[in-house]
Amino acid sequence: MKTRIPGTTGLLLAIPLFLASSPPTMAAPLDEQLATYRAQGAGAFEAKAGEKLWRSSLGKDAEGNDRSCVTCHTGDPKQAGKHPKTGKAIEPMAQSVNVQRFTDPAKVEKWFGRNCRQVLGRECTPQEKGNILTYLGSQ
Ligand code: HEC
Repeated sequence: MKTRIPGTTGLLLAIPLFLASSPPTMAAPLDEQLATYRAQGAGAFEAKAGEKLWRSSLGKDAEGNDRSCVTCHTGDPKQAGKHPKTGKAIEPMAQSVNVQRFTDPAKVEKWFGRNCRQVLGRECTPQEKGNILTYLGSQ
């Protein structure tokens, strides 16, 4: 810091500044991801709207599985999911139990692309992606 504030006042000011400049490391990648979506034109994000889309079902696929995010990721983001076709385990989506989540923007985009096309039949919008990540990040 370039500004020098003498005495105790300086110290008292420096502590909150220090705390503010070092947020919990887990939150940072998610915030960056949300900032990217905002830069792409999204507005304020709503966890409720994200949860609604996350849980909504758009009918059955060819194998008779629900076309929904929760089919693979389960209704509880803190639980491990399972791919209905391959039976492969999917780590929990909630960052509170899985700190690896949403740390790699390329991975986030790859899977949003793939899963939104599969479930919704189209890409998710930046707004939808931000809403979903806000919901999952709040879990
Ligand atoms: C057919 C199963 C399946 C469905 C349905 C599904 N996913 Fe996934 N999803 C996966 C798998 C497999 C991965 C990659 C493995 C992992 O990250 O644990 C993944 C990963 C992700 C990731 C990447 C997370 C990260 O750490 O970067 C996001 C985001 C995601 N899914 C969102 C969604 C959304 C949104 C929906 C609903 C529109 C959805 N998924 C539906 C199987 C599915």
